[in-house]
Amino acid sequence: MKKILVIGSSSVDLTIELDRMPAQGETIKAADLELFCGGKGANQAVAIARLDGSVDMLGCVGNDGHGELVRENLTANQVNTEKLGVSSITSTGTAHIFLINQDNRIIIIPGANNEVTSEFVEQQLAGRLSEYSLVILQNEIPSETIHYIVNCCKKAGISVLYNPAPADVEAAQLMDNVTFLTPNETECQQIFPELTVEEAVTNYPNQLIVTLGEKGVLFHDGKELRQVPAYPVTAVDTTGAGDTFNGAFALAIVQGKSLAEASQFANKAAALSVTKKGAQQGMPTIQELEAFS
Ligand code: RIB
Repeated sequence: MKKILVIGSSSVDLTIELDRMPAQGETIKAADLELFCGGKGANQAVAIARLDGSVDMLGCVGNDGHGELVRENLTANQVNTEKLGVSSITSTGTAHIFLINQDNRIIIIPGANNEVTSEFVEQQLAGRLSEYSLVILQNEIPSETIHYIVNCCKKAGISVLYNPAPADVEAAQLMDNVTFLTPNETECQQIFPELTVEEAVTNYPNQLIVTLGEKGVLFHDGKELRQVPAYPVTAVDTTGAGDTFNGAFALAIVQGKSLAEASQFANKAAALSVTKKGAQQGMPTIQELEAFS
């Protein structure tokens, strides 16, 4: 089976559900604080594993209870954690999520995710990059590391799916060296400020894949614009929908599906993922995805 390597963040999500954000100087009550496993990298790895893909996670957690929880959760989901390191100086990253009307506002504290430097990656990989068919990256580890990995993959002839979230304007500089760039609409506008989303995908046919939320996915196939529709569902929590899309899309690509087929497969997975609270709770198994139409 073709193996995927996710290099990225693994964190704990601390989620508070609210009717509204407090105003400046105001204190309000929330019913509960819920704790979920998250981090864009770990979420994407779990999305792949749930769909029966073979996936390794390279990242870093703290030497603490949150770090143990992250590792146990990845292992329970059949993600290989041999390349998940433990920091001796920093705690596990956290994301503080305010869930309001099924949508979210997120503040991240990177913690040990910031220790995923190029030296750390080189050490964890131990010369075994060539084992992988595809590497997935996001922007919750240092930007210098992203550039280093993209160059290593380019030299080794390994495909890279770069999900530039949260947006980093430098992502545009990597277009010559990544196989796919998968921003959402807002990130696309931040990365290519001079271009509309339609112009941007037209400039990068079969490479720039833009997720449009309820409107599906947009790319250009070299001849024309292709919009692959989303699946309508009742959303409970949209946290992690983009990660589910990216994981499922990457898996479909290594399995040899076309861009349109991979987008449709990933749209289904993303739709199912928003039907439960927490980034990973709603991510479907392959059986659940196949049963969904
Ligand atoms: O994409 C969703 C993720 O972003 C959350 O799980 C949270 O960890 C944030 O980093």
